[in-house]
Amino acid sequence: MIPKKEHGKKLRKAPKGFKTANDFFEELFLDKDLIWMGQNTNHLHDENFVRDAMIKAVESKDYCKYPPPEGLSELKELVLKDLDLEDMDLVITAGATTALYYCMSDLLSPNDNVISPDPGYLIIDNFASRFAKEVKSIPIYNEECGYKLTPDLVKENMDENTGLIILIDPLNPLGGAYTEDEIKEFAKIAKDNDLFLLHDITYRDFSRKHYLAANYAPENTITVYSFSKIFGMAGIRVGALVSTHEVMNSVRQVLIDDLGTNVIAQYGAIEALKSKPDWIDYVKDTTFNNQKIIKDAVDECDGVFIVRYPSDANMLAIDLSGANINPKDMSKYLLERNVFTREGQYTSKKFGDKYLRVSFSVPPEDVKVFADEFKKAVKVLRK
Ligand SMILES: Cc1ncc(COP(=O)(O)O)c(C=O)c1O
Repeated sequence: MIPKKEHGKKLRKAPKGFKTANDFFEELFLDKDLIWMGQNTNHLHDENFVRDAMIKAVESKDYCKYPPPEGLSELKELVLKDLDLEDMDLVITAGATTALYYCMSDLLSPNDNVISPDPGYLIIDNFASRFAKEVKSIPIYNEECGYKLTPDLVKENMDENTGLIILIDPLNPLGGAYTEDEIKEFAKIAKDNDLFLLHDITYRDFSRKHYLAANYAPENTITVYSFSKIFGMAGIRVGALVSTHEVMNSVRQVLIDDLGTNVIAQYGAIEALKSKPDWIDYVKDTTFNNQKIIKDAVDECDGVFIVRYPSDANMLAIDLSGANINPKDMSKYLLERNVFTREGQYTSKKFGDKYLRVSFSVPPEDVKVFADEFKKAVKVLRK
């Protein structure tokens, strides 16, 4: 058994009335009426491109065979084209999560340390902690750094054993994206110090502007790609890991899904990319505008504020500390009124008692329900 580490994943506690955390989560999952603002998923796709492609794939019974282990070449080409990184190499994975694990397993050595943002997406730290000596979680919950892991913070915290810098861009949960200058600075740090940037671009397409580190430090960047968010395919579990041929040849030695990734998912992903021009503006604009509904509601309540506004992702964090409200009480209150959100502890042990995370790639009517319930909740829960 792996010894328990600081960033080790704690067993999820079962909420009251449930045997396991999985049972609780399943009850939410199966509740068709629940407003799903707790997972940064996307519920705005009205068209059926992906669904129809997957039905066609099921009907062809292609699922009887194992697909090519690293992914269908049409899908691989489309992902590289989407990123405009046609000279690079990749493997298709069962979501960004698997891709993240491959990164850590291949890139890290037992003496390395890893620099990551706190708040951040904690499973990344957990994976890193399985292969590196130390994960340095850098506190970024402050205005001075713009609620982002900045190049200056990285320089202050790195040393000769730093092997990897984790850039979640835009950041889950606070929604900050990097400017071109910041990405260039990270690229320089990586090249000068011979270390890797892990560029997790899961929320890239929600961002007003976005810059790929792979364009500035191709040899030092590994890019993690997901179909879960902008494409609205979270339950289908498909993603990719992109880097140079040399890096990917090394990653190939640690692949676990030796028999490939779900082929139905891959056919869906192909159609998702091909149809992107048909829906991207609608999904992106609706998501972005939904923030305004949340902002207006938050602005009406004393003692609470949106940590970073506007967010460049499809989620944002609302700081509740000025109203003395525990985010767990807030998420429980909202859940009892049919709105699923996430308390901050899900993305930061240190700062999680301050904020609630809310995602908003849902129909504007649903965001309005959230907004009304949130205002009532602040009145009821304020201490
Ligand atoms: C930053 C980040 N990376 C990766 C993932 C997981 O993506 P996937 O569903 O493709 O595994 C998430 C999911 O919320 C995320 O927030």
